[in-house]
Amino acid sequence: MLTLDRLSAGYGPVRALQDVSFTAAKGQITAVLGANGAGKTTLLRTVSGLHRAESGTIELDGKPLRRTPAELMPALGMVHVPEGRGVITELSVEENLRLGGLAKGGKVRPEDLHRAYDLFPVLADRRAGLAHTLSGGERQMLVIGRALMSEPRLLLLDEPSLGLAPRIVAQIFDLLRGQVDDHGLTVLLVEQNARSALSVADHGIVLNLGRVVADEPAAVLAADDQLRHAYLGF
Ligand SMILES: Nc1ncnc2c1ncn2[C@@H]1O[C@H](COP(=O)(O)OP(=O)(O)OP(=O)(O)O)[C@@H](O)[C@H]1O
Ligand SMILES: [Mg+2]
Repeated sequence: MLTLDRLSAGYGPVRALQDVSFTAAKGQITAVLGANGAGKTTLLRTVSGLHRAESGTIELDGKPLRRTPAELMPALGMVHVPEGRGVITELSVEENLRLGGLAKGGKVRPEDLHRAYDLFPVLADRRAGLAHTLSGGERQMLVIGRALMSEPRLLLLDEPSLGLAPRIVAQIFDLLRGQVDDHGLTVLLVEQNARSALSVADHGIVLNLGRVVADEPAAVLAADDQLRHAYLGF
């Protein structure tokens, strides 16, 4: 379980997050929604230690994390998949997956690779190919597969649906749902595509100008016409 309490962060004079408090329950998908510039990416970067919070607390299963360096997070069970599907294009699919396994320290186990290939058979077919030959959807699968190599308890995903065909988005979200339901994974899913995100999420947080304006079960948010029109664009 991830708990944020009065978390604030910014960039010089820009207040990107102001007193953000919420809990992402264990074994659930919590969607973080909001318009351009609402603070969604800053939130993920602050939680994963890539951006420094100014005040407030971050706890993962009761353990304070606010001052933990980003590179130690995988060993603590948290993996962040940033926006943009960054893979190392000069390496093969399998080499990219191995990097995910190394992130938490120690060796890459064959069973971790098998798990990624079972989840994404398309990656198994392409395992020896260079990552730059993958399509956008395949790259998104590779970055999620790479993140899951270290068996995280908490997965942070920034706009995984961006630029992908609806069919691929549905496939990726179904798979996430399976990881949550079958393995108790906790997911914090940042999306501008609020409609799709709420269809897979259990719970939703809406940010506006760095503040939480709604914290409700996904079905409640999806049924709230006023809130949808004001903040979610559908
Ligand atoms: N590196 C930066 N330097 C200065 N200001 C920044 C920086 N990154 C983000 N901001 C500002 O912080 C605020 C929050 O931005 P953030 O990227 O977290 O929003 P977002 O919700 O992820 O937006 P988007 O939907 O466009 O990805 C915005 O006002 C943005 O302009
Ligand atoms: Mg963003």
